[in-house]
Amino acid sequence: MVTLLNERLITPSILSADFGRLGADIEMVMSAGARLIHVDVMDGHFVPNITIGPPVVKAIAPAVHERGGALDVHLMIEQPERYIETFAAAGADSITVHQEACVHLHRTLAQIREAGALAGVALNPATPLETLSEARAYVDLVLIMSVNPGFGGQSFIAESLDKLRRARAYLPAEVAIQVDGGVAAANAAELAAAGANLLVAGNSVYGAPDPAAAFRELSAAIAG
Ligand code: DX5
Ligand code: ZN
Repeated sequence: MVTLLNERLITPSILSADFGRLGADIEMVMSAGARLIHVDVMDGHFVPNITIGPPVVKAIAPAVHERGGALDVHLMIEQPERYIETFAAAGADSITVHQEACVHLHRTLAQIREAGALAGVALNPATPLETLSEARAYVDLVLIMSVNPGFGGQSFIAESLDKLRRARAYLPAEVAIQVDGGVAAANAAELAAAGANLLVAGNSVYGAPDPAAAFRELSAAIAG
């Protein structure tokens, strides 16, 4: 799993999948080569939207793991420390919490690792990188939000590109950098060149007429 996080990958976000046929939609992208599946958890408090929780992670985990994949769980929730063990037990391989939602970030990151998952921290567009000056030694993954969290299908915030470049210089080399929001075939190569090695893609995969083909096209854009 650590090696998966450090590869250059498109990570499809199931937020834009058809929840009525979620298993099939995941299978579709995994058949096209996807290995890291991004799961967006929203609580209606930290962000306005409400999505899915641990039972859904538990339901999809066996098939993803059997195929050699991993579940990358992005918690857009308040007090995420209350749910770390539950998500890890449900099958989350990496758990990302928001810097803005954590009063005791150091403790929460340690809690994620103790629960057996890789630890990620996400930054909203207006949150400076420098808020991670002390935490950067304790994370496996930093997620740079390139939209305001809460919804799929939003437009990429242009300033995020420079933030990615600064993040790559600012963070230890072994820390994975993920970009989330508005990733598309038109900007994927530029985002990878800026330093993102994990590119979350929701609408550009599942909003496409052929999600498998869209995944392949995005993957080709960041290859090499
Ligand atoms: C947004 C979520 C994203 C979302 C991205 O709050 O964190 O993971 O699925 O969706 P797109 O790729 O459609 O911008
Ligand atoms: Zn996300």
